[in-house]
Amino acid sequence: MPGIATRTNLLFPETEKVEEQLASLKLTGAPAPLKLGKSLDKFEKVDSTPLIGTEFARGVQLSELLKAPNADELIRDLAILISQRGVVFFRDQNLTIEEQKLLGTKLGELTGKPETSKLHVHPITEETSELGDEISIISSERSREYTTPRADRTKLSAANWHSDITFEPIPSDYAILKLRTLPSFNGNYTGGDTLWASGYEVYDRLSPSFAKYLETLEAVHEARFFQHIAKALGNKLREGPRGSPGNVGSHLEAVHPVIRTNPVTGWKSVFVNPNFTKRIVGVTKDESDAILKYLFDLTQLNHDLQVRFKWEKDSLAIWDNRSNYHTATFDYGKEKRVGDRVVSLGEKPYFDPTSKSRRQALGLLDD
Ligand code: SIN
Repeated sequence: MPGIATRTNLLFPETEKVEEQLASLKLTGAPAPLKLGKSLDKFEKVDSTPLIGTEFARGVQLSELLKAPNADELIRDLAILISQRGVVFFRDQNLTIEEQKLLGTKLGELTGKPETSKLHVHPITEETSELGDEISIISSERSREYTTPRADRTKLSAANWHSDITFEPIPSDYAILKLRTLPSFNGNYTGGDTLWASGYEVYDRLSPSFAKYLETLEAVHEARFFQHIAKALGNKLREGPRGSPGNVGSHLEAVHPVIRTNPVTGWKSVFVNPNFTKRIVGVTKDESDAILKYLFDLTQLNHDLQVRFKWEKDSLAIWDNRSNYHTATFDYGKEKRVGDRVVSLGEKPYFDPTSKSRRQALGLLDD
């Protein structure tokens, strides 16, 4: 029927070629769910909201966890906790860039990610970047050198919700952001908060029949706007491999299931975001727009599945990009806001029909 977009007429030929190559790699990750051990019990921490976010008490240093005799046990449990809670927060962190990269690598390695998945190299990272290929420097000054869709004040801020780099065939498992410079307002460091939302809970807000239908769908994610940003910055677009043999080329496009199973928790989440998801495959454009708008609304308008974090200098957040969304807040002026972000790569997104929703797995369906 005319108007129903198939994969062939939606996807770039390069995208289909990469998908065929990926089929030959072992990319499924660990069998879920992984059991959270007790190694982190000795650290004080509080849940930021019932649904998402946990903050560790001041004094807990990730650099010390990495050097502990039982480091692997601690980091594995940390990864499972992050996947369960969506995002975790730490204050006053002293870990170095090398330790941040090591932590980013170990979180996925210790929870069974494919061997070929390393740290991501962002397509607009310049080849001579001061902290190397695997660190994205999040800088308000740098973003002002070009107009990002994210910082455009003529658009609703809600359009900025995303999970990192879903335009890549092998997207991210975990991301770690540490802020070193904060904006100030009237002499106080304030502004530039970050918000996260739970994709597990977005799934749990769907009616069973609509959820079942969405489980049959896949969507196209695309970020060719980075081609223009690279040009504006005078950088060569990094054509790859960007941390995985699957992440290559300049077409910056991938196709993923609309409902994704998290390999660590085994829980289902909705996996589409306003920054990168352009089109649902196999339906008309109007149907795709309506479905995506509804799913974005569930994320953006339900503040009870979100957490908002107020940064201090050297605060650090680690989140699971497979099942959560986030957005920065551009509420400050010409002030500097600078941080270092490591994005590690996970498995090729998949949907396991035997997986459960978070509420189902935790026995919370009647809450
Ligand atoms: C990001 O989108 O990964 C960065 C979030 C932030 O700057 O707060």
